[in-house]
Amino acid sequence: MEEFIQPKHSFLAKTLMGMESILAEELTSIGAENVLPVKRGATFTGDKSVLYKANYLCRTAIRILVPIYEFTAHNEQMLYDGIKKFEWDQLFTYKNSLAINGTVFSDYFNHSHYVSLKTKDAIVDQFRDKYTIRPNVDTENPDIMINVHIHQDKVTVSLDSSGSSLHLRGYKKDAKEAPMNEVLAAGLIKLSGWQPGEPLIDFMCGSGTILSEAALIAENVAPGFFRQQFGFEKWGNFEEDLLNKIKGTAKEAELNAYKGFIGGCDHSPGAVKVALQNLKEAGLRNIEIEISDFKKYHHNFEGGVVIINPPYGERLAVGDIEALYKEIGDTWKQQYKGFKCWMITSSKEGIKSIGLKPFKKYDVMNGALECKYLGFDIYAGSKKAKYTENEG
Ligand SMILES: C[S@@+](CC[C@H](N)C(=O)[O-])C[C@H]1O[C@@H](n2cnc3c(N)ncnc32)[C@H](O)[C@@H]1O
Repeated sequence: MEEFIQPKHSFLAKTLMGMESILAEELTSIGAENVLPVKRGATFTGDKSVLYKANYLCRTAIRILVPIYEFTAHNEQMLYDGIKKFEWDQLFTYKNSLAINGTVFSDYFNHSHYVSLKTKDAIVDQFRDKYTIRPNVDTENPDIMINVHIHQDKVTVSLDSSGSSLHLRGYKKDAKEAPMNEVLAAGLIKLSGWQPGEPLIDFMCGSGTILSEAALIAENVAPGFFRQQFGFEKWGNFEEDLLNKIKGTAKEAELNAYKGFIGGCDHSPGAVKVALQNLKEAGLRNIEIEISDFKKYHHNFEGGVVIINPPYGERLAVGDIEALYKEIGDTWKQQYKGFKCWMITSSKEGIKSIGLKPFKKYDVMNGALECKYLGFDIYAGSKKAKYTENEG
């Protein structure tokens, strides 16, 4: 395959809403240049090594796209012709399987699915015309993932270098109710300002995603460490030595046997069992998780960070959500003096019932739910109770 990644190629890393600035910091730290946060992502430039590192090392990236060319189209024929103009056999052969993902923000095109179909037709027709044989479509496990993005009449064609979403780290073997996306968990940890060495507690830990991601950060284990494969490994220009070098450097930078405290509880024995399995799978043995109601959970720390993802109320009776969130607020005030306590939730009623005023608020998404990520500063009791009680 002819090399299509230039030494200063432009890339687009995608992330979840609210994580753009964290992603930009991560990209800068791996050596990406011209890093610019954009809506739900960040653009950057770099070479192939930066592309591999972005996939392997960035905890808040969902996928990394490699734009390969652009053209203008006002209708489906122009789209078909524009896609067909590119010589696709410089990127892959008819033996490779394909998947096409369309995204459309345009007055000229309405349906992303239709755009994907037209793109697929143009590519397979080009192969059929040239070789009488065409590549197959495989939406499950394709060799090549093509992304067609249309903004008004501007069509950007990219290759998806990640393959499956990068939140699928590979260590989570099971999950309980409403498991959190790993990219979201890592982003929330970074937004909280927690630094390894400080105690970190999640007293509603579910499958343990927040705790696992925190431990991976603390031990400096690359988020890509557990993954079987990245999309770019199926490309004809894949440099295995380069990826192995990046993996080796990351391995050397690991800090084993983290001594700080990362732990918590959940009142569901099933959730705790799953969380412990996931931690074992990730080789994270220093996390302490108990079966306990959060109100009875004990710790001996005089400060630290709490991050929780409580139930949002979809499955609770009316009134119960207010009671639960009031108990959380009361527990923070009584048992977490000196802590910064963070909560992600979509429950407006719940937020009103916490009885504390946040010092920091972020808008984030958890799946399809619009959420707030709120930070509360619970000052130590001996000082004046400086946290501000919510009036309402
Ligand atoms: C939305 S889930 C958390 C999901 C978790 N972040 C994950 O990644 O899997 C909420 C969790 O709160 C737990 N929970 C609800 N009430 C609790 C209580 N009173 N004490 C402890 N855990 C509780 C539930 O069992 C559930 O696992």
